[in-house]
Amino acid sequence: MNNNSIGIFDSGLGGLSVFKEITELLPFENIIYVSDSKYCPYGNKTDEYITERSKVITNFLLSKKCKLIVVACNTATTASIALLRELYIVPFVGMEPAIKPAARLTKTGKVGILATEGTLKGNHYKKTKEKYASNIETIIQPGHGLVELVEQGLHNTKQGEELIKKHTEGMIAEGVDYIVLGCTHYPFFYDTLKRVLPPEIEIVNPAPAVAQRVKNILSEGKILKHESQSEYQFYTSGDKDTFANFLKVEFNIIAEIFSDKTLSD
Ligand code: DGL
Repeated sequence: MNNNSIGIFDSGLGGLSVFKEITELLPFENIIYVSDSKYCPYGNKTDEYITERSKVITNFLLSKKCKLIVVACNTATTASIALLRELYIVPFVGMEPAIKPAARLTKTGKVGILATEGTLKGNHYKKTKEKYASNIETIIQPGHGLVELVEQGLHNTKQGEELIKKHTEGMIAEGVDYIVLGCTHYPFFYDTLKRVLPPEIEIVNPAPAVAQRVKNILSEGKILKHESQSEYQFYTSGDKDTFANFLKVEFNIIAEIFSDKTLSD
């Protein structure tokens, strides 16, 4: 079991921001990453649609004997993780909108949340806000268009910068001092955000906490892999060249990208 892979999936390439944190924290683990780029974005789809896709991908990852599955997508976590946990016995780790640390740390009492429409409309966000951030003001902003730019590898462009400016100007004007990245695609705009935001605004990325949660579960279950070379496999339901190019540019990883009939039907 220890040598079995961790499965990670997202609507597309955004979950690679979580993959990065997991590989840094757990360098010996084997990983299978599934990008559902053919069906991306999830943010404007129904919960039923996203749950169907999540089940297809989970079945695929279980056919590869994954020991734990990371739903590296806030939108899919909101739409489907509760049902996935009922249907399958494998442990699932989902994305948590990092409102909790931001609410604890804010000095202005105002926190910006940048996420997809699906995440902002969902119960998961509402409940987390009620539980941890009822005493602060949250300024929410759907990041329309950002996921699509990352999927095309166009995030570090003038167009990306303009969109980030547009989506953050309202929050800046309201006086937020923390901005939570509520979509796993958005950490790829980190440099742009740093350039565009006033220096006193902090950016919160929940991915390191997710990696820590993965480590805790594997360690409690005594299924951590402790040594030897790790192996990464990348699958997509969409375009293989776009994925390969993204890995090369963002992570300096040269890898063959695979497709599978069950993922792209
Ligand atoms: N990375 C997904 C998330 O964290 C993007 C959702 C989408 O495909 O719209 O929500």
